[in-house]
Amino acid sequence: MVARAYTVAFEGVEALTVEVQCAVSPGLPAFSIVGLPDKAVSEARERVRAALNAMAIALPSKRITINLSPADLPKEGSHFDLPVAIALLAALNIIPEDAAENCVSLGELSLDGTLVPVTGALPAAMSAAESNRILLCPAASGSEAAWVGNTQVIAALTLADVVRHYTGQSPLAPSKPGEVVRPQTDKNMRDIKGQERAKRALEIAAAGRHHFLMTGSPGSGKSMLASRLPSVLPPLSAQEALETSMIHSVAGLLDQGGISRERPFREPHHTASMAAIVGGGRRASPGEISLAHNGVLFLDELPEFSRAVLETLRQPIESGEVMVARANAHVTYPCRFMLVAAANPCRCGEMFNPAKACSRAPVCGEDYMGRISGPLMDRIDLRIEVPPVDFRDLDLPSDGDSSLAIAARVAAARDLQSARFEGQTSMRVNADAAGGILEEIATPDTEGREFLQTVAERFGLSARGYHRVLRVARTIADLEASSQVRRPHIAEAVSFRLADAK
Ligand SMILES: Nc1ncnc2c1ncn2[C@@H]1O[C@H](COP(=O)(O)OP(=O)(O)O)[C@@H](O)[C@H]1O
Ligand SMILES: [Mg+2]
Repeated sequence: MVARAYTVAFEGVEALTVEVQCAVSPGLPAFSIVGLPDKAVSEARERVRAALNAMAIALPSKRITINLSPADLPKEGSHFDLPVAIALLAALNIIPEDAAENCVSLGELSLDGTLVPVTGALPAAMSAAESNRILLCPAASGSEAAWVGNTQVIAALTLADVVRHYTGQSPLAPSKPGEVVRPQTDKNMRDIKGQERAKRALEIAAAGRHHFLMTGSPGSGKSMLASRLPSVLPPLSAQEALETSMIHSVAGLLDQGGISRERPFREPHHTASMAAIVGGGRRASPGEISLAHNGVLFLDELPEFSRAVLETLRQPIESGEVMVARANAHVTYPCRFMLVAAANPCRCGEMFNPAKACSRAPVCGEDYMGRISGPLMDRIDLRIEVPPVDFRDLDLPSDGDSSLAIAARVAAARDLQSARFEGQTSMRVNADAAGGILEEIATPDTEGREFLQTVAERFGLSARGYHRVLRVARTIADLEASSQVRRPHIAEAVSFRLADAK
């Protein structure tokens, strides 16, 4: 007789259904797991045996075989303990067989039978809902999984609780979704004094999700500006929140099952490894660029990042997804992020400061910024120099717009874009517009076109540069709610682009 239970194997953010079959047959006593288990899955045997022992259930002196099907799909991680235990309990007639077949379970067991939380409960619940099964998981993962809504989630503290639930001794109540996390930020754009141009560029970048680079002397407020970006970005839509949370769930980052509507803001250090930034490692986990999906990836001190990491970013920036290689397959993670980068203009950082400029200028700056390759630079729509703040400005009370006011303008511009790109799967914001669509939506008026032609000729704008100017100009027009892209919009967009023409 074969008992069945179900669980999932993760491939990126996708959870693939795995059937756990358990056969108990006469023969020499043995307990084996087959079906491409990795080391952690094979060790499930010992944990399951000990957990059953703790409940005073002894394994029969028979041959117990567990098969994980499909047999050719690699099974990784410690979340197979619970489904193996369920299949075994069903085979031993301790819990009803149909109960085991009607649930997808995941969870790690400790030796005393306590269920230890695992990553990926949210995608597992999605997969359970698709196959019309309920999800059984450790107590700590329940509130995260319950977000899926169209399936029942039962979360238990121990294996003994699971048995009592299924034998009807003390049924467990279904889990409820966790709290919506409210951002606890007191960072406001109003804290930044002066820097009007940088603030304007930040607003445009936020409105059209354009990539953005700030160069300027140390202490001029670059990191301060970037850290206030989340306060002006619109909240995630329900669809976006789910996409982002799936990635955070696989990475084990959903604190207490709470899901946030705030856009992620990831800030990896420049010494971070390739695997940490792009994704990879032993279990092909998502990297910072995927954790920043639908949000902001802030690379402070951009030229200090390793050249290999910077070059690897080029393709994901363009395609919005990244392929992470592992031993025998590739997994793909989404990574549609807004790149915000900051850099000192040179190694000593004082190139723009006449009082302190070093003797190696300007070579020192060329060497330093030269670490960022042309093709990467070309993908950055908005580039600005952030000058040191004037002491007189610092003394004045802040009178700029608050984050709330800027956020309202950004949201209005984003609404126009949502209407414009309705029905398009690959485009949500102006920064995504490509080819024919871009020409259609951002055709300038006659004066604008003439102006752009003159600039393109005089400064030798590349074709990509030309399109990027059009995209930024479209966003600037959206901020004014102008349906036509006009000459002033083009002129402002060009002013943010000229750094490369120089
Ligand atoms: N425009 C500004 N208004 C108010 N404070 C500022 C401004 N620019 C810089 N500061 C102060 O200087 C500190 C350093 O700024 P920071 O953003 O870290 O500079 P950078 O990243 O350019 O080196 C900030 O924490 C803030 O206290
Ligand atoms: Mg800084």
